[in-house]
Amino acid sequence: MSSTVEITKGPQPPAAEELSDAVTIGVDAYISQDYARAERDKLWRKVWLQTGRIEEIPNVGDYITYEILDDSILIVRRAVDEIAAYHNVCAHRGRRLVDTPRGAKHARGHAPVPEGSKGEQFTCGYHGWRYDLAGKSTRVIYKEDWKGALKNECIGLSKVNVDTWGGWIWVNLDSKCEPLRQYLEPAATMLDPFQLQNMRYRWRKWGIFDCNWKVAVEAFNETYHVETTHPEFNNWGKFRGWARVQGARHSNIGYEASKNMGGDQEAKLRVGTGDARITTAEMQRYTWEKAQTNTVQTLVEAAERLKDELPEGTPPGQVLQHWLASARRDDEARGVFWPVVDPAHVSKSGTAWQIFPNFQIGHSVNNMLCYAARPYGYDPDKCIFEAAVYQLYPPGQEPQTEWVYSEATAEAWSYVLSQDFSNMAAVQQGMKSQGFSGTKPNPYMEGAIANLHRNLAKYMGTGAPRELK
Ligand code: FES
Ligand SMILES: [Fe+2]
Repeated sequence: MSSTVEITKGPQPPAAEELSDAVTIGVDAYISQDYARAERDKLWRKVWLQTGRIEEIPNVGDYITYEILDDSILIVRRAVDEIAAYHNVCAHRGRRLVDTPRGAKHARGHAPVPEGSKGEQFTCGYHGWRYDLAGKSTRVIYKEDWKGALKNECIGLSKVNVDTWGGWIWVNLDSKCEPLRQYLEPAATMLDPFQLQNMRYRWRKWGIFDCNWKVAVEAFNETYHVETTHPEFNNWGKFRGWARVQGARHSNIGYEASKNMGGDQEAKLRVGTGDARITTAEMQRYTWEKAQTNTVQTLVEAAERLKDELPEGTPPGQVLQHWLASARRDDEARGVFWPVVDPAHVSKSGTAWQIFPNFQIGHSVNNMLCYAARPYGYDPDKCIFEAAVYQLYPPGQEPQTEWVYSEATAEAWSYVLSQDFSNMAAVQQGMKSQGFSGTKPNPYMEGAIANLHRNLAKYMGTGAPRELK
């Protein structure tokens, strides 16, 4: 991290479209086994998927795998400045080349340098076929038995499209896919000023949850549930928020601007109602301890000083400015530099982006909370859920983290996240009821759900939301 930076000026994204249609969504996308089976070819093998962070494979030869249904992808740092991805399968008789340890989220490690070989190699454990980091075959034992029939083209690893954005490594199994940047727009341009690539994991957890992957992502892509699912937050304000269509696939959500909440600031870093000096500190302490997301220690401590640093009656907008400026100063003193983002842009970018189909980025200038969910086999009632909190750290002081398997409990995650989890299996089961006539998302606050299904229908050929009559 060098110094404070100015807003990135990139191409301007197209204007966002407000969602307003009252629609209903059928339950097949959530509960049908046929739909879940069809997703492999129609969806998962066609889209860009977020698979991990660039910093997880810092050295040449480092690798991670990513599993999506029947496909396992081997992602490897092939050169100092190049990442490659291959289907994780041996060309000989199809053995998985790199095994995922039992109970682990994925495989990770460093390809060994076998005796007598120049560089790192992947060796199949079955008959010893071997591959270099470029995916080329470097050894076939008794190759002469094939009498020249084994051509190089058919004995190398099969390539997968790979690219990076935001500090993440993305893959796409479709050989004819569009470039990643184009796929991500306008999210990439809107989020670039937040410099997400500079953030590092604070914690990361995953689990196998008893709901469809869409139920899991939809637990976090709207603000409508906050008032009821997280009632404690009602002490500190109204958490009413909008949803907008963003480009061909994505959407974002954000809180409404509120005079009480500090002028036109719509972002995640917001002050409480009433005496904002006091309520902001309360809300920050609660968020830090009970959610373990959406804030950093510097912000919590700066909030707790507000009552001593500002006179009673300070308008909320000033409390917000003072709080953010003093936390920014504290962080700069320890070598952590938040990007400078124009407040109007912060408001427009909202609190979270839903990257089609299954990734959510809850961004801010100094921390973020991201969720992803994907199928767990072809059982529509299960998914692999993961969440990670990232923040800025002084150079060299990033914590060493791993993916920790966690049951969906308050003890394993946090109280606030367990409130969200408590709805998931209940929704999955409830939707199967004979008495349920379909999902009816709030047209203003839950528009990201309708948008997800509108876009899913383009890939799946079924399940488009219908007008609610
Ligand atoms: S399956 Fe890999 S060497 Fe035989
Ligand atoms: Fe929630």
